[in-house]
Amino acid sequence: MSVPARVRKRVEWLRREIDRHNYQYYVLDDPLIPDSEYDRLMRELQQLEQRYPELIVPESPTQRVGAEPLEGFEEVVHRIPMLSLENAFSDEEVAEFDRRVRERLGIDGAVDYAAEPKLDGLAISLRYEDGVLVQGATRGDGTRGEDVTRNVRTIPSVPLHLLGEGWPRILEVRGEVYMPRSGFEALNREALRKGEKTFANPRNAAAGSLRQLDPRITAQRPLAMFCYGFGELSDGDLADTYSDSIRRLIPWGLRVSPELRVVEGVAGCHAYFQRMAERRDALDYDIDGVVFKVNSLERQQRLGFVSRAPRWAVARKFPAQEEMTRLLAIDIQVGRTGAITPVARLEPVRVAGVTVTNATLHNEEEIRRKDIRIGDWVIVRRAGDVIPQIVRVVPDRRPKNARVFHMPKHCPVCGSELIRDGDGIILRCSGGLFCPAQRREAIRHFASRRAMDIEGLGEKLVDQLVEKGLVHSPADLYDLDQQTLAGLERMGEKSAANLIRALEQSKHTTLARFLFALGIREVGEATALALANHFGDFDAIRNADEEALMEVPDVGPVVAEHIVTFFRQPHNREVIERLLAAGIHWDPVPRAPARRSPVAGRTIVLTGTLSRPRSEIKEQLQALGARVAGSVSKKTDYVVAGADAGSKLARARELGVTVLDEAGLERLLEGEE
Ligand code: IVH
Repeated sequence: MSVPARVRKRVEWLRREIDRHNYQYYVLDDPLIPDSEYDRLMRELQQLEQRYPELIVPESPTQRVGAEPLEGFEEVVHRIPMLSLENAFSDEEVAEFDRRVRERLGIDGAVDYAAEPKLDGLAISLRYEDGVLVQGATRGDGTRGEDVTRNVRTIPSVPLHLLGEGWPRILEVRGEVYMPRSGFEALNREALRKGEKTFANPRNAAAGSLRQLDPRITAQRPLAMFCYGFGELSDGDLADTYSDSIRRLIPWGLRVSPELRVVEGVAGCHAYFQRMAERRDALDYDIDGVVFKVNSLERQQRLGFVSRAPRWAVARKFPAQEEMTRLLAIDIQVGRTGAITPVARLEPVRVAGVTVTNATLHNEEEIRRKDIRIGDWVIVRRAGDVIPQIVRVVPDRRPKNARVFHMPKHCPVCGSELIRDGDGIILRCSGGLFCPAQRREAIRHFASRRAMDIEGLGEKLVDQLVEKGLVHSPADLYDLDQQTLAGLERMGEKSAANLIRALEQSKHTTLARFLFALGIREVGEATALALANHFGDFDAIRNADEEALMEVPDVGPVVAEHIVTFFRQPHNREVIERLLAAGIHWDPVPRAPARRSPVAGRTIVLTGTLSRPRSEIKEQLQALGARVAGSVSKKTDYVVAGADAGSKLARARELGVTVLDEAGLERLLEGEE
């Protein structure tokens, strides 16, 4: 079969493109495209070469592992090559791998696999002779890497001498050097503070740190290593299975993933993959999948290798958390307090299983710093349930007509002037409740579940009420009648009656909820509760001066000023009078507990999986006068850690913050500690 010219051209282009990205990634540590895009290019080339084998040449990127070593480090030859792994992107592909393994081994039953996380760092080989670390090397192209001995010696989890006894005279262990997320975040915070360049992700940070020509810099970087394989061994294998062999390393002082398990057959592989996908966010390091290895070393031997990778292992990748797409436009969103946020409108792209069409851009400064232009190809990241972010642009693919974005001078919704706020970074619409966007957000907030909890008053309905001019302030809600409501789109007599009932029910609330519902700037749920507990009375709060307000835990000068300013506005006073006249009321605030409780005034962080919903524990603690924070700092008094706690727990340990489990928290609340 002759190869069509079109295919030939495509194959040549793919090879050039992959070589270029290899160089960027492996040699310069500066990838231009996300891994997912690189994988796609590689897959396309592999498929074309499979279909037209006559196109395969030894220098094709499918025929080798990495790229040339960097200048500046000595070259190291790996007598036993450092290989790569075949990737599987679906359960079917894992099943296919398992089928091939069994077929080659001539086995009908289930094969035992060692299963481990696929760490996202860089591969390193350590050589110990007579128990002494004599060499550390990068993978390079698989047979020739770089001598980074002086750098790996600075990594705390790499022993310079093996501990214990019984190690082979020559022991080469392979593993992944990575940067824990907590360390990565601290490093980037410090870089930002000093005005230096930040790293895009922990893997780049680990690679950049290890390839420093000055080991003193490496020594300051928080690096760690897990071992997952062997190179040269003087006296054969350590045990009969991979899992036993690798665990032999632990008493010698080498780290092995605590997530390592032996699983049975393809069903075991699927279950492990599922479990790790759920655990992924709780780990303090990035993983991009899991690796399955035939556990019997004898079977590994029989299966052998193909050019790039062993036949006995496969990497099951998670759906990529980073994808590339086009930035179509930048729109402006006006928040409840008038804050203007640029929002990226993207060509729809699936990221980690969800279609993403918008990403937050935070502020103008961020757009400048990342040099994001309309029309650019951008890398979008979505991790866990975090709002999608634009990590960076792909300058290489910038179209000629890409446009620089300028912030408007006036509010795009109401035309009011925009003013710079606080540190000058945030822009705010000066229109207040005159601005329909702010009005809509204020009413949505007022009605929301954690505020007045008006059931049935959803966002769409609020939009209609504001657009039709039926509601200008939260107080207007209580003047609505059933007939008006029944006449609205998607409403009928029944839902109108339900809403009227919900409005009535919402009138009985708590002081804290009412304060929160008013939407005073910087007064979130916790501050509202602290105010209610401290003053116990609404009039006392609205008449308090800044000094009195600052006696409340959690209230500083900025918040105090916002509160005083809010209650000074005639418009706000009028709305409040009308709300109270409509019958909004609350039970007296129980005064005592906040004072006597052992957590009053304490800052607590909740992390990991707890036995009750986090929001429930949070409310309980807040009711007892505690402040529940989202991140751990020196000011944190306690960290309550549940199962699978990750970076927050690590940070607490780093800072010496008291860590409690749930039982410990209970004891604390009962006054036993
Ligand atoms: S085993 C002969 N196990 O993934 C097989 N590799 O994509 C050698 N990696 O070069 C690799 N975690 O840098 C293995 N638990 C793990 C791994 C792992 C991460 C990396 C390694 C390898 C790359 C292949």
